[in-house]
Amino acid sequence: MINATGNPQSLLLLGGTSDIALAIARTYARRGGGLRVVLAARPGERRTGAAAELSALGCRVTEVDLDARDHASHAATIDAAFAEGDVDVAVVAFGLLGDAEQAWQDPELALELAEVNYAAPVHLGVLLANRLKDQAHGVIVALSSVAGERVRRSNFVYGSTKAGFDGFYLGLGEALRGTGARVLVVRPGFVRSKMTDGMDEAPLAATPQEVADATVAAVTAQRDLIWVPAPMRFVMSGLRHVPRPLFRKLPL
Ligand SMILES: NC(=O)c1ccc[n+]([C@@H]2O[C@H](COP(=O)([O-])OP(=O)(O)OC[C@H]3O[C@@H](n4cnc5c(N)ncnc54)[C@H](OP(=O)(O)O)[C@@H]3O)[C@@H](O)[C@H]2O)c1
Repeated sequence: MINATGNPQSLLLLGGTSDIALAIARTYARRGGGLRVVLAARPGERRTGAAAELSALGCRVTEVDLDARDHASHAATIDAAFAEGDVDVAVVAFGLLGDAEQAWQDPELALELAEVNYAAPVHLGVLLANRLKDQAHGVIVALSSVAGERVRRSNFVYGSTKAGFDGFYLGLGEALRGTGARVLVVRPGFVRSKMTDGMDEAPLAATPQEVADATVAAVTAQRDLIWVPAPMRFVMSGLRHVPRPLFRKLPL
């Protein structure tokens, strides 16, 4: 259970090697209290390294296999993630950016983005929600993106998957009202993580730690939707209503 000061006893990272998810785990770990962390990710050095780092911070860490594209394995991933007990906070963090120009011309890459960023989060989201309903408590943190709020030409395959992701998790939050389980949708702008390594920075860029700090505060405050950084909310509110002929001309 999340205690009175907002600290969970157990944290599940679906995408246990994501820079943003790991910043969230470190933030909770530094608050003490012997956090139990389940890292669900593809096996490999990144997962092993993340497990070692969180163990050194005093967490009890379990590693579980997650392959977003192998839909038949998802139920076993969730079973393994809940094998040691309830999950207080579950972060849906796995995702793929891909090369935007390749993505709309290469059907295999387009399908991979759709599966990793939309189909798998929906499938795993339903599995997670069933568990949290049974527990009658817990928060799903869904890492969405402003890219899905107004899908733009420059990365519309990724943006369209995030639009679907965002709509699903907002709806799931509504559906779970009254069950004890909750959903927090987080919409970051550009984040300096390995996903954006080597890319030109967009305005209002944030660090994974800034996303983590805002997320942890929002879980404690029982918010259901945040933008990171917060002013991005007003930027997107304006952009949403820009007419298409003008939007097309913006350097986005
Ligand atoms: N960075 C940004 O600018 C930004 C902005 C807005 C929203 N977001 C969203 O925030 C989330 C986390 O992003 P991040 O910045 O932390 O990126 P990241 O460090 O690149 O993490 C991405 C994660 O997705 C996992 N993943 C990719 N394909 C997978 C698959 N087929 N099966 C299982 N796992 C898979 C990666 O696992 P491996 O280690 O095995 O590759 C990694 O754990 C993503 O959903 C992203 O779309 C990011």
